[in-house]
Amino acid sequence: MVKISSAFTSLVTLCLLVSHVHAGLRDWTPPLSTRGRYVVDANGARFKLKSGNWHGASGTYKGSADINSDSSHHANENAHTLPLGLQHANLTDILDGFERLRINTIRLPFSNQMIHDTTTIQDSWVTANPQLRGLTRLQVYDAVIKALTDRGFAVILNNHTIKSIWCCGANDGNDRWNKSQSDDTWAADWLFMVSRYRSIGRVVGADLYNEVRRDLLDDPNWGFNDNHDWYQASQWLGDRILTEANPNILIIVEGINWTGIPVDGFPHHRPTLEPVRRLSHTFVIPNKLVYAAHFYGYTGPNHSGATGLGETSDPRYRDFSKTDLFQVMRDQASYVALDADKHYTAPVWISEFGIEGRGQIADSSRNWFNNMISHLITNDMDFAIWPLIGYLGPSNNNGWALLNWDPTTGKRDGLYDGNDWRAGAWDSLVDATGGPSSPVATPTRWQMLNLDRGDFVKSLIQLSRADWDPGARKGMCPDGLRLIGLSAGSTRALCTNSVDYKWTTGNPATAVWDERYVSGGDWAGGYTKYQCPPDSYVVGYAIRGSKVSTVLCAQASRTLGTGGSGTRWFDRGDNRPTGEVGGDFHYGKYKGVCETDEYIAGIAFTTRIGSNGAPAAILCRK
Ligand SMILES: *[C@@H]1O[C@H](CO)[C@@H](O)[C@H](O)[C@H]1NC(C)=O
Ligand SMILES: *[C@@H]1O[C@H](CO)[C@@H](O)[C@H](O)[C@H]1NC(C)=O
Ligand SMILES: *[C@@H]1O[C@H](CO)[C@@H](O)[C@H](O)[C@H]1NC(C)=O
Ligand SMILES: *[C@@H]1O[C@H](CO)[C@@H](O)[C@H](O)[C@H]1NC(C)=O
Ligand SMILES: *[C@@H]1O[C@H](CO)[C@@H](O)[C@H](O)[C@H]1NC(C)=O
Repeated sequence: MVKISSAFTSLVTLCLLVSHVHAGLRDWTPPLSTRGRYVVDANGARFKLKSGNWHGASGTYKGSADINSDSSHHANENAHTLPLGLQHANLTDILDGFERLRINTIRLPFSNQMIHDTTTIQDSWVTANPQLRGLTRLQVYDAVIKALTDRGFAVILNNHTIKSIWCCGANDGNDRWNKSQSDDTWAADWLFMVSRYRSIGRVVGADLYNEVRRDLLDDPNWGFNDNHDWYQASQWLGDRILTEANPNILIIVEGINWTGIPVDGFPHHRPTLEPVRRLSHTFVIPNKLVYAAHFYGYTGPNHSGATGLGETSDPRYRDFSKTDLFQVMRDQASYVALDADKHYTAPVWISEFGIEGRGQIADSSRNWFNNMISHLITNDMDFAIWPLIGYLGPSNNNGWALLNWDPTTGKRDGLYDGNDWRAGAWDSLVDATGGPSSPVATPTRWQMLNLDRGDFVKSLIQLSRADWDPGARKGMCPDGLRLIGLSAGSTRALCTNSVDYKWTTGNPATAVWDERYVSGGDWAGGYTKYQCPPDSYVVGYAIRGSKVSTVLCAQASRTLGTGGSGTRWFDRGDNRPTGEVGGDFHYGKYKGVCETDEYIAGIAFTTRIGSNGAPAAILCRK
């Protein structure tokens, strides 16, 4: 009796569980956006990216003859370029497998070749899915996206080819808004792909490039303003995608995977997201940015992952204790999500991590995986395991995938088929509870402006209007945000929405280039003061060289106070509110920031001998 009832209870529980999983998968509303460190859906409910990589369309296959090879994701471009597995399992089966893994999002790599190849695929590549016969690779990708999104999954597109950004001259920040870049394949392909799936709300993200890393001779960098600058290129393309292709899509920017020469004695490093602390992105639609980083046990903060040639004496992630791994993960990536109220605060998606599920696995590797999962759970991180689908067979039986098919027998042997040591850890990850209550609270937003390279105007309203200071270098906060801090280094500023004064399309913005609006006394004696008209506040500024050229004032939709903390000098030292909200937006330079409830009413500077006209003081009012 007891037995029957408990069997009955677990049957009921199982049914509830299954139906709950199904409901959960459909129970979210696109588009996605961000609130602080969380990704949220259209209703403001948390949408944790619980994901996996379904690779293959990036050109994973080694060669045309070897359709089953899954030995490397660093692609061979002469490849089938289809999502893996379609010859062995039908789409229904594959998606059932994903549901059983309790993921909600698929990272779906593609390659240049996949887009441009107009030949039709061979029937044998889709044996289990005859409905896909006769299609091009791109049409198969379409069908896979339709099946995934119909089922409820979110899909993140990922440019995953081996060539790196700097190969193609894609990055010229001076031409950030320059439409003549249409010959730039990287950007053109992205605009094409995002536009193609624009009507499918569940295509939620554009993951701009995979594992940017050193070429044979050259390092990528983050903010050097040259054509190897991944920060600039991703900033530029992210804005283009949001303005030209789809304002709803999340833009995913991965940190730099590798710089330097992996030989002891030479500098070598995996920067990942470390540089974001000093230099973060601000898109025209700021709540669309998600950062990403990859971690495998065989690499390390200074270890390339190589064995033999290119192997250094640096520790690999699997050599760290749990405590040290938590710290290094935080320093390299997780801090971006965990530090609140900074210009860089954003969701961090650990968009690749993984390990073999079969065979001899060293204790250090197992420990690394368990500790990694523990870090993801403890810090409630968004994640994507690598990979979802692979093959088991005589020559390629490493079993990294969560769902494997035997190429000879066509039989599935996945995470839950009894032979995989990772099942328990995986369950604890996908079934972890907790997290923010729903709807997620909307924290104050902090964003930085960076005029190092040229204009950095992030207001869509202003971008549709005439240039307010032709020839000068201009910076402006995204709509809804205002300037709250400036750097004496001229090219950086801090924006916030801590108070919304409701500047809208209907309200004018006034460019100020003299002292005609100075009121309330001489608040910076001996200095030139560009002050906003009454009831206006600073949303942008322009410089020529280092000198302040104009201040752009937005007219608030209400009367503004003239009290507040008044003049804040920062020509001889930092002058920021306690707690340094917003973070360090110009490393190594003096910064002035108003209190959170204040607005900037004016900027003072001087060009007298020895001064370069850089911002020296701001007038803080409320
Ligand atoms: C998919 O394949 C499974 C066997 O693996 C089969 O039971 C099922 O009927 C197939 N579904 C479709 C829609 O072809
Ligand atoms: C992916 O990026 C590489 C390098 O910039 C570029 O050559 C390729 O065209 C891109 N592919 C797509 C589909 O965007
Ligand atoms: C865009 O930039 C290119 C190269 O710098 C230049 O030749 C072209 O005139 C620019 N086009 C526009 C519309 O500004
Ligand atoms: C290792 O990486 C750190 C940053 O994590 C860097 O400061 C250091 O210089 C690197 N060491 C070498 C040998 O390159
Ligand atoms: C990053 O780059 C290194 C060196 O090129 C490579 O071995 C490694 O697999 C890449 N990925 C990660 C996550 O480290």
